Amino acid sequence: MPGGRADKAEKMISSEPRDPAIRVILLPRDTNKHGTIFGGVILSYIDLAGAAAVSRVTAQRIVTVAIKEVVFHAPVLVGEAVSFYTEVTRVGNTSVTVHVDVESMRGDKRVAVTEADITFVCVDKDGKPVPVELIKHN
Ligand SMILES: CC(C)(COP(=O)(O)OP(=O)(O)OC[C@H]1O[C@@H](n2cnc3c(N)ncnc32)[C@H](O)[C@@H]1OP(=O)(O)O)[C@@H](O)C(=O)NCCC(=O)NCCS
Repeated sequence: MPGGRADKAEKMISSEPRDPAIRVILLPRDTNKHGTIFGGVILSYIDLAGAAAVSRVTAQRIVTVAIKEVVFHAPVLVGEAVSFYTEVTRVGNTSVTVHVDVESMRGDKRVAVTEADITFVCVDKDGKPVPVELIKHN
């Protein structure tokens, strides 16, 4: 159906070569009772991939404040190479938001499995929000 979930998943797969923030092979220890990969494992890698993206924006201490619009489009199967692609979508006063697209290699096909928006807040040593200080890239 046009505009449906399959369409959305199709759009997530870029034809341009991209470097993932993280690429992992998921193992039987990461499975749920159905034998597919547990969603919480994917979420934890989304958190790590988002943090890696923020580390290119600021060197400050960060904490995760929210993970929103998580959509699990398709299951991840044991042994697949799973790639986490990131794009910084917003730099606020104290927060940075990253969109994460997750793709799994199934045979010779790339399958869009999950996407999410994750927001991090820059904090001081007491855990209080502080303004984002951008890294100056030469
Ligand atoms: C993150 C934390 C420091 C924010 O403190 P706070 O006093 O609520 O901060 P504020 O209300 O001033 O919000 C700070 C920023 O977070 C953003 N924010 C707060 N709640 C949010 C939410 N639910 N979704 C998206 N952004 C949110 C605000 O918009 C603000 O961004 P901006 O400054 O760029 O506009 C505090 O909530 C915290 O310590 N949370 C626990 C973090 C943690 O332990 N994470 C690991 C989870 S295991």
